[in-house]
Amino acid sequence: MNHQKLELIYQGKAKDVYKTDDPEVVIVEFRDDITAGDGEKKDILINKGYYNSIISAKFFEILEASGIKTQYIELLEPGLMLSHRLEMIPLEVITRNIAAGSLLRKFPFHEKQEFTPPIIQMDYKSDEFHDPMINDDIALALGFATREELETIKKTTLKINQVIKDFLARKGIIFPDFKIEYGRNYKNEITLGDEISPDSCRFWDMKTCEVLDKDLFRKGESGVINAYQEVATRILDEEDKEKWNIKD
Ligand SMILES: Nc1ncnc2c1ncn2[C@@H]1O[C@H](COP(=O)(O)OP(=O)(O)OP(=O)(O)O)[C@@H](O)[C@H]1O
Ligand SMILES: [Mg+2]
Repeated sequence: MNHQKLELIYQGKAKDVYKTDDPEVVIVEFRDDITAGDGEKKDILINKGYYNSIISAKFFEILEASGIKTQYIELLEPGLMLSHRLEMIPLEVITRNIAAGSLLRKFPFHEKQEFTPPIIQMDYKSDEFHDPMINDDIALALGFATREELETIKKTTLKINQVIKDFLARKGIIFPDFKIEYGRNYKNEITLGDEISPDSCRFWDMKTCEVLDKDLFRKGESGVINAYQEVATRILDEEDKEKWNIKD
């Protein structure tokens, strides 16, 4: 296969989606742009796209091996992910194992409160409406998904949480929460899309509780890219590291 970026289909805040010569296949380009606070805080972090694409590819590979349908086909090179084109569902599916972030501003949980079973929450992905929290009935009434699809999304999300949480625990990383997006592939099957990266997850060091994700940027702290690199270094095996030239 020799896929090349053709027409730009969509430009988001941190990634671009390009057509390829195969109508069912796109190239997702991970850019170095980073945003927070509804797009109000913006910057460019050299190599962020590089690390996020490698980290996402690794997670997608692990999930595929666990029988979860994802967009992932191949990382063409760091930054460029060959992916199945999905008709995206405008829901941000958030899973929480430990209370952090916006949940603490909205509800009287205490910081680092643990959730067993995990909490799954969905937001309507909309810049215009500022991603409000949504429930099944509203999502159904808006025609975003069927009841069966919502059930599949929730079941799949719990499995994704378990697979990644267990994998990260072996790498000395705690997985407090993450946000994923689903779409439908050409067979109309619910498929995991987008990314799983330090932009879309919380990662904490198991020993020190050091933050290894976008919260550093949100709080204006330094060492953001070093944290992303640390996640990549911990989760990749030696073969991946050699392939993508990542040094410990
Ligand atoms: N496999 C896929 N096929 C088609 N579109 C996809 C696929 N995976 C992700 N997308 C969409 O591509 C876009 C990715 O861009 P990006 O994440 O930068 O934008 P955004 O979601 O608009 O911004 P933000 O995530 O910062 O709110 C999103 O709209 C996402 O839903
Ligand atoms: Mg996005």
